[in-house]
Amino acid sequence: MTTQYKGTVWITGASSGLGFSLVEKYLIKGWKVIASSRSKGALEPLLNSDDGLHSEQGALSFVAFDIANEQSVDAVRNALQQESATLDIAILNAGTCEYLDIDEPDWTMMSKMNHINYIGLVNSVEVCLPMLKKADNPLLVGVSSQAVNAAFPKAEAYGASKAAIRYFLSSLRMDLKQFNIDVSCILPGFVDTPLTKKNDFSMPFLMSSEVAANRILGALERRPFEYAFPKRLSVMLWLARAFPKTWLRLNATKPNPT
Ligand SMILES: NC(=O)c1ccc[n+]([C@@H]2O[C@H](COP(=O)([O-])OP(=O)(O)OC[C@H]3O[C@@H](n4cnc5c(N)ncnc54)[C@H](OP(=O)(O)O)[C@@H]3O)[C@@H](O)[C@H]2O)c1
Repeated sequence: MTTQYKGTVWITGASSGLGFSLVEKYLIKGWKVIASSRSKGALEPLLNSDDGLHSEQGALSFVAFDIANEQSVDAVRNALQQESATLDIAILNAGTCEYLDIDEPDWTMMSKMNHINYIGLVNSVEVCLPMLKKADNPLLVGVSSQAVNAAFPKAEAYGASKAAIRYFLSSLRMDLKQFNIDVSCILPGFVDTPLTKKNDFSMPFLMSSEVAANRILGALERRPFEYAFPKRLSVMLWLARAFPKTWLRLNATKPNPT
């Protein structure tokens, strides 16, 4: 018997946090999910499960992908094509975050963050574009960050890589319209994941990855150009842009006491 799926979605950064929650939500909604990351991580139990929802029906499969490795693009596309000829949705979510320590700056981190987050997303587009082009009503989604809406201390590398993603996607939208491919840019606020666990500053309106994934799924039904959430954080960062000197006074890095 052939299983009828609502569609096929490729999700990168699927082994933990937001990506993993997106995998779970799409499976529950009856999608075929191709999950990618370097490790299987939290996906392992789902891939081994025999509850009929996941691997047994082929609903969930895993294709290893280091997004920073340009050399692997063709091989990863071939592996995806073994799972499905076309992709209805690609959610390019994989990413990482490191902060600049201005007292002992590691400037190589700027190119490292840029290479993983931004060039990694570009590599992911190169992987999936031919498969999206074959779908009837495809959607390409990239994950940026609300960090691009106001300056945050120590976020020179992370913020710049996420701003590059936002611009890249806005330009790509213009070029992919002719192929009927929609492009959405997601700008999450603070989400409780392994990525934010290491943060030692206050994270206003922090939400769980399950809640964040639900919000994203709901928003993607409308195929927005951009979706920034939660709105309360968007308003706070709008105020930061309207009153930049106040934002600087409140958030500037304090001198190191040592
Ligand atoms: N959490 C937040 O507050 C927040 C806010 C705004 C935006 N975001 C963005 O949301 C996305 C997901 O973040 P998260 O919070 O869910 O973080 P996370 O739990 O650390 O998950 C990051 C995911 O990316 C994968 N990844 C990292 N480097 C990779 C590489 N070189 N190649 C392939 N996969 C790689 C990781 O898997 P492997 O290590 O197994 O490869 C993991 O699955 C990121 O793009 C992040 O910047 C997060």
